[in-house]
Parts: sequence; structure tokens; C-alpha cells
Amino acid sequence: MGKKRPPKEKFLLKERWEIEDLVFDKETLLALSKIIEKGIFNKLDYLISMGKEANVYRAKASDEFVAVKIYKKETARFFRRHSYIIGDPRFPSVPKTERELVNAFASKEFKNLKVAYKANVPAPIPLYHYKNVVVMSFLGKEGLPYPRMVDGVVEKKDFEEIVEQIKRLYSYGLVHGDLSEYNILKGDKNYFIDFGQGVVLKHPRSDELLQRDIRNVVNYFKKKLALNIHVEKVMRYVKGEAERLY
Ligand SMILES: Nc1ncnc2c1ncn2[C@@H]1O[C@H](COP(=O)(O)OP(=O)(O)O)[C@@H](O)[C@H]1O
Ligand SMILES: [Mg+2]
Repeated sequence: MGKKRPPKEKFLLKERWEIEDLVFDKETLLALSKIIEKGIFNKLDYLISMGKEANVYRAKASDEFVAVKIYKKETARFFRRHSYIIGDPRFPSVPKTERELVNAFASKEFKNLKVAYKANVPAPIPLYHYKNVVVMSFLGKEGLPYPRMVDGVVEKKDFEEIVEQIKRLYSYGLVHGDLSEYNILKGDKNYFIDFGQGVVLKHPRSDELLQRDIRNVVNYFKKKLALNIHVEKVMRYVKGEAERLY
């Protein structure tokens, strides 16, 4: 039997149906049921975020909340995404299908979160990875996720903290690769999230991505606080070529 589609005029419903269908394809359902069987979490509570490349859900584990990120198959972004995997020595075999690619992204995010954890950089704690699903600690308060940096107020000390975190991550051999006011959650600390594009220093694009991360952060703080800061100076500081940030 074919699946029943909602009537065409119910545009929103139809859209939702299609998007949900894209996430919970058969392999994803199987992956989720394996993870639930393992007891990593019991059930998905609600959708926190529906992104182009992944959806994030809050889920309930035995005595805490966790965040579950499910990478989606999406052919249109295949080649753009590819460039982050090719050249990473941790992924010597190049993914040939969209499924292999989304799984590689999930695996990459998980590995990168482990580096952040080791480096003591505030970020979700990696808990489990299987196929296109990453389970991590939930960053939030009273069951609600922390706001993104872009949705809150920032101070100069946030900038300094963030630069220290970029530096620490760099000293552990990792560049975030997609850092901006949208991928930092503001709670008791400035938490970096969304590590799927993170690359190791050997990656041919690591320098370019580091510079872009720093530029995004610098531009945001310049806009918000009119700080007198320069990307090049921050870059040298992060790499250990300059002793001081200012
Ligand atoms: N560990 C987490 N705890 C709480 N909320 C999270 C967590 N990870 C992601 N989120 C929420 O989901 C959103 C999207 O996550 P992100 O990893 O940035 O995915 P995307 O690739 O869609 O940008 C974030 O802006 C944040 O609101
Ligand atoms: Mg994001």
C-alpha cells in the first residue's frame, strides 16, 4: 500500500508531512529503534529545531533530557557538504552516496564533540552515535533549550571567552568551521554547538575556515559592541603567534 498524502490544499500539512518523511525514512526509524533498545533514551519529546541539514529533538533518558540530532538526506547539498569530508584524514574513504555522506557527517560531529570535551570547551557532551543520529547532552534550563547568542545580549567578556575557546579547540587540533552567533548557545557559559563541519588542522581548508569563524565572531561583536578588534590579530593570538589579544 502506498502512503496516504494529505489533500493538496492543506499546504502546511503537506509540507510538514514531506519534511517529516524525509527525516524518518526507514533507515532512520531503524537507527532510532536500535538506540532506544540500547536504552540511550526512551522517547523523543519535541522538535527543537528543523534545519536544512538536520533536525534536533529533545528526548527523555531515564533521569535527564538529551538532545538528538538527526541528519537528513538531501541531495541538493551533496557537493557542498562533500568538501568538508574530503581531505579529513579521519575519513579516508570518500562517501559515495547521500546516505554514506549523512552518516559521515553525524560521525564527524560526534568525533568533533569528543575533541571539544577533551579540550574543555563548553559544548554538548557526546553520548552516542549511530548511523545518521547523534545523541548529546541537552543544553538548557528547566527543560527549555538555551537561547542562541543572536537572540540575547552580549558583553565584551563573552567575546574574550569565545576567543579563548577557539584557541583551546585549535590547540587540540580542531577548527569549528561553522562558528557564528547562530551556533553558540548562551547559558551559564557560551556553548559551541553544531560541530558537523569541524575540521582537523591537516584539512586543506582549516586555515580558511578558522579565519571565517573568527571573522564571523569579530563582525558580530563589532556590530553589537563597537569593539576595536581585527580579524588578523585575533587569528595570530589563536595560533599562538601573538601573546595578547588586544
Ligand atoms: N545539545 C543541545 N541542547 C539544546 N539545544 C540544542 C542542542 N543542539 C542543538 N540545539 C538546538 O537546535 C538548533 C539547531 O542545532 P544545530 O546543531 O545548530 O543544527 P543545524 O545544523 O540545523 O544548524 C540550535 O540552534 C539549538 O537551538
Ligand atoms: Mg546550526
